[in-house]
Amino acid sequence: MLYPNQTIKDNCLYIGGANTVELAKEYGTPLYVMDEDMIRETCREFKRAIYDGVGENGLVLYASKAFSCRAMYRLVREEGLGIDVVSGGELYTAMKENFPPEKIYFHGNNKTADEIELALSYGVGRFAVDNKEELFLLNELSVKRGVRAKISFRIKPGIDAHTFDAVMTGQIDSKFGVALENGEAFEIMKTAAALPGIEVVGVHCHIGSQIFTTEPFFGAVDVMVDFIARLRRELSIDIRELNLGGGYGIKYTEEDKPIAPAEMFSKVLSHLKEKCEKTGEPVPRVLIEPGRSIVAAAGVTLYTVGSVKTIKDVRTYVSVDGGMTDNPRYALYESRYTATVANRASEPQSETITLAGRCCESGDLIGKDMPLQKTKAGDILAVFSTGAYNYSMASNYNRVPRAATVFVSGGKSREVIRRESYEDIIRNDL
Ligand code: LLP
Repeated sequence: MLYPNQTIKDNCLYIGGANTVELAKEYGTPLYVMDEDMIRETCREFKRAIYDGVGENGLVLYASKAFSCRAMYRLVREEGLGIDVVSGGELYTAMKENFPPEKIYFHGNNKTADEIELALSYGVGRFAVDNKEELFLLNELSVKRGVRAKISFRIKPGIDAHTFDAVMTGQIDSKFGVALENGEAFEIMKTAAALPGIEVVGVHCHIGSQIFTTEPFFGAVDVMVDFIARLRRELSIDIRELNLGGGYGIKYTEEDKPIAPAEMFSKVLSHLKEKCEKTGEPVPRVLIEPGRSIVAAAGVTLYTVGSVKTIKDVRTYVSVDGGMTDNPRYALYESRYTATVANRASEPQSETITLAGRCCESGDLIGKDMPLQKTKAGDILAVFSTGAYNYSMASNYNRVPRAATVFVSGGKSREVIRRESYEDIIRNDL
């Protein structure tokens, strides 16, 4: 399976015009390679899709938890998107790149007082408030500073996005947000509207991840617009902004059939406009928060094969010099990936192998029963679609240093995150 930015030349895999086998030699492995041109093009696709639907009355926020580093915030700033941050660390990194604070939306279900103070000091555009304790804390800290924090409340719309449990966040049994079904959301909006340090601007929902159909978003739109209308009718609260969250699916394997942003939003935004008309609501400002769909497909991880262990009548383990430390998604969610041997890219994938990492843990796999070329120690192995939730979820388990990240653009590469050294590993040890 190849993406449009990936090609094969002289039996080698190229990404964004750069030879991955050469990249592995130059920067070492494991190595995250991100196609910068593809990320930029995807940002533009999302922007166009929203613009075509609602013109200037919309904003794409990149959910930076998917892949967060200075170079990425710089890129997103240059492309004119806003961002969603979920921690003081993400916020700090973005501000180091002079990200316009008014385009920052601060999420998180348990923001600390220090993080809220930091966000207020930067003047972030919105707080996506999750719960009543946070609401009161934000109010208190804002009043102390003599400001009114603009908020968007995180609502659980109760939509089943037909996705797997671990990333299903829109239903009532979720740690995120307040529920509609039991009246909790209505009550808290009433409370919020009366607080002196709070300006209620919007409502927010995020119904899950890896969603491949428009229906769950139609459902979310219906529920949220009805809620906005009720707030206006019964409490005279003017909700001007609707944030529909992220969750747009990407292709990890042949079975995944993502919907292009243009098609997704022409449908979802038409549905929104119709729903608003029926309800007598003005069309709110629309925000979306794609994370995975901006970066996942642009990323490839390169490894060096260390051993090939065939256990007769059982399975073949191909072990590489990375694993759950750079990609914990199989260990966490049994996520599926596609791989190729980068220096044998035109050869047929005649084997079925289990791709194992180097950690002292049996569950340290990148995938089971994956098709692959015949391979041997020293080969360079490429795993596709690792641009999201890989580097950002990497760890130092077994004191393995984190891998480097390079951006490629027009066939040229540059390091954007340095490989960690053993010195980095002991830096905070006392
Ligand atoms: N907005 C909110 C409020 C979110 O909670 C999330 C993801 C997003 C936007 C972006 O969703 P995306 O477009 O990336 O699907 N670590 C998991 C994914 C966790 C997603 C959590 N929230 C994984 O590796 O699959």
